[in-house]
Amino acid sequence: MSSTFHVRGGRPLDGEITVRGAKNLVSKAMVASLLGEEPSVLRSVPDISDVRIVSDLLRIHGVKVDLDVEAGVLQMDPSNVEKAHVADIDAHAGSSRIPILFCGPLLHRLGEAIIPDLGGCRIGDRPINYHLDVLRNFGAVVDKREMGIHITAPDGLSGARIHLEYPSVGATEQVLLTAVRARGTTELTGAAVEPEIEDLIAVLQKMGAIISLQTDRTIIIEGVESLGGYEHTALPDRIEAGSWACAALVTGGSVTVRGAQQKPMSTFLNIFRKVGGGMDIREDGIRFYHPGTPLKAIALETDVHPGFMTDWQQPLVVALTQADGISILHETVYENRLGFTSALNNMGARIQVYRDCLGGSSCRFGRSNFNHSAVISGPTPLHGADITVPDLRGGFSYLIAALGAEGVSSIRGIGLIDRGYESFREKLTALGAEFWEDDA
Ligand code: EPU
Repeated sequence: MSSTFHVRGGRPLDGEITVRGAKNLVSKAMVASLLGEEPSVLRSVPDISDVRIVSDLLRIHGVKVDLDVEAGVLQMDPSNVEKAHVADIDAHAGSSRIPILFCGPLLHRLGEAIIPDLGGCRIGDRPINYHLDVLRNFGAVVDKREMGIHITAPDGLSGARIHLEYPSVGATEQVLLTAVRARGTTELTGAAVEPEIEDLIAVLQKMGAIISLQTDRTIIIEGVESLGGYEHTALPDRIEAGSWACAALVTGGSVTVRGAQQKPMSTFLNIFRKVGGGMDIREDGIRFYHPGTPLKAIALETDVHPGFMTDWQQPLVVALTQADGISILHETVYENRLGFTSALNNMGARIQVYRDCLGGSSCRFGRSNFNHSAVISGPTPLHGADITVPDLRGGFSYLIAALGAEGVSSIRGIGLIDRGYESFREKLTALGAEFWEDDA
């Protein structure tokens, strides 16, 4: 983490890279393996630090984890699940929010779960109140202690009718991972329906779960006594694919993302096209390119699926600094995901942030003090600067800005990017980027 990553920008990225399984599915499918009585096999697993963190968390709970990094094959044997020491959980969980999702599976397997302070990207408060409410609905008892949160289920876990006031991805996963082995039926309304959630449902169904996803954000889960293992190939990482697409646009280049799939990226592709980006959608991937004509300003609102993902927002904002005119962005998922724009302004961008809900409809952050809308005036040439990575997606956005900027940028904290972007250094090399790293 102490090294500095230098990028000499101004040359178009050109070439081909491959994306493997989605970080935000792989980590959850790994947790799901805990629910089974038999080993599971997950394929297309990327070599990212979040996978290593969840592997360690599984190991300290007695799961035998074997990862063939090159082949991307992860084997997990949960035959001997056991309690972990709080200090070990704490030591391994610090930089991830995944431990909260261990609760349901651990309650089923061991009758108790301990959750330490949660990490994850600093993009707002990121509370866990929905998760704890969900667990209480199933009959769990939540006890906040100094060392963390201790959760038990003295009477076992029973299916429940649960409504989410906001379609939270994590809370929906919490319901799925708990309901599949709870007594009776669970009806979840107001659920998140991201493609990664559909893929997690597919994983759980392979294990023996009974889950139906309706068209109105309702999920019905009929609890079963026991679950087996699964064999599954993770859906590709659409956030990573979108990030490289924006890098192609900002650098005036062409990046073929093998593995990128059209359907889960449909909303992104519409916006990319409206901004003026070019694409060839193929069977085995998508080529994203700058067509040589000026990019166009747009009004955009982030939203839960099928809306425009918040995780695409930061890379796209960099592209909008190069668009002709005034773009308006309204971030409605996280209250605090625009802080990264001040560093872009230091690189020459003209981005003004506002507390108001600009552009679309008013959102739940509307009457609060959060800067969650932005007006981006372009095109503005970017120049190199010294920057520090704030969070995973913001960090990749800085990398994109640095690649498109004139001169050299020096980026600190580049290690955060390893959490979610597999082999990004190798991919940058394959695309012709000029960069070097030192320990200064
Ligand atoms: N929220 C609450 N209370 C809760 C949980 C969430 O108020 O108990 C709020 C959050 O603060 C946020 C909103 O609900 O404002 C949505 O959060 P959600 O629960 O949907 O997010 P998450 O499950 O914590 C996952 C991804 C994020 C991605 C979001 C939205 C993982 C590990 N993380 O987070 O990915 O942005 O869904 O799609 O799956 C990333 O990959 O960089 C990343 C941050």
